[in-house]
Amino acid sequence: MTSLANRIENLHVLTYFSQSKLSASDPARSARWQEKSGYINADDLSAFVPDLRSLPVFLCGPDPMMQAVRKTLVSLGLPNEQISTEEFVSPRGNTSTNAQPTANEPTNVQSAVSESTVTFGTSNQTIDIDASTTILEAAEQAGVTLPWECRAGICGQCKVRCTTGRVRMDSRDALTKAEEEKGFILACQSHPITDSITIEA
Ligand code: FES
Repeated sequence: MTSLANRIENLHVLTYFSQSKLSASDPARSARWQEKSGYINADDLSAFVPDLRSLPVFLCGPDPMMQAVRKTLVSLGLPNEQISTEEFVSPRGNTSTNAQPTANEPTNVQSAVSESTVTFGTSNQTIDIDASTTILEAAEQAGVTLPWECRAGICGQCKVRCTTGRVRMDSRDALTKAEEEKGFILACQSHPITDSITIEA
């Protein structure tokens, strides 16, 4: 986006990071990390687009973000009719478990567990979660940084490898068959169905 803005004179980019800013010592911090985080606020919107009320707005992204930004836009006097949205909606009913059971686990894993211990191998973090919690939420609770964007099973940003145990995915549309066979799961869509799970992250 930044390189596009450098080439196109009337394209202006204001970047917000959805997660709160990282400390300078955090390895995940990049040179592009800026001070702005959370959802874009009314002051910044007004300053960045002074004639906002007379313009159409196109919103695309996760539902909580769109709801928050729509509220901000309306509070600035923009009529709802001027706001067009593209929703990230993942069709339900396409649930599945991750590909193959690992060698050290039984093949009959249909019975869901109510709780599971999730280990993030690379980060050396372990957390107990209930079956309604996703692996992405477990990572966040354990302080493990996983990439994500839509949280709706569409973008594929949250792909991680599950090396032990099994999960049920609400949606697996962003995974190829080959990725599933290699043990990749969508962290934002995955719930535990075995007592313990190890994630390569
Ligand atoms: S965050 Fe987009 S698929 Fe998980």
